[in-house]
Amino acid sequence: MSDYLIAPSLLSADFARLGEEATHVLNAGSDMLHLDVMDNHYVPNLTIGPLVCEALRKYGIKAPIDVHLMAHPVDRLIVDFAKAGASYITFHPECSEHVDRSLDLIRKHGCKAGLALNPATTLHCLEYVIDKIDLILVMSVNPGFSGQQFIPSTLEKLKQARELITQSGRDIRLAIDGGIKTDNILEVANAGADMFIAGSAIFMQPDYAKVIKNMRQELQKVK
Ligand code: DX5
Ligand code: ZN
Repeated sequence: MSDYLIAPSLLSADFARLGEEATHVLNAGSDMLHLDVMDNHYVPNLTIGPLVCEALRKYGIKAPIDVHLMAHPVDRLIVDFAKAGASYITFHPECSEHVDRSLDLIRKHGCKAGLALNPATTLHCLEYVIDKIDLILVMSVNPGFSGQQFIPSTLEKLKQARELITQSGRDIRLAIDGGIKTDNILEVANAGADMFIAGSAIFMQPDYAKVIKNMRQELQKVK
């Protein structure tokens, strides 16, 4: 198993001080940033666009940024976020009429491509595009908000996704997003996740470094 990545979701950060928050959470030991793009259409919330990603890059953020598109349609946003400095671009298959084409578009623009699967979305959509995917993001809450409860059926889905990745023989990250905390990170890692997206668990605490350290300590216990 490859190394573990901790990716704080800026959705729970203080938006009025986003650059500082991003710097702070990276200095606290996280590996990358997760940016939640919501459109008040595919999901009932409205967050940020490519300008904010670009602003973070201009501010000096060098770490990889995973842009999680919860927006419809995706193709124009893919191009705009690639230009704005995204490293990974991850979208929900329900948001593209042509999933294979959207994956190609992400890679053509030099980014890593991810598919995000809602709690009720099966793994079948991965079958014919697995060779074009760098990241599978399993949602353990319904997309739209931070601070929701982890949905337990996700653990079985992670195991199945991990099997698919192993069978493919490809270097694909398996991310888990939603309700991840210090007290369940070990369980999801044992189920096969190797990228951990956490919003409220980190940003709602005064000491980000302490949370991230505790998470890494838990990850050392992986079987
Ligand atoms: C939810 C977003 C998540 C969210 C996670 O739609 O995709 O990235 O920020 O927040 P927590 O960790 O608080 O569940
Ligand atoms: Zn997300």
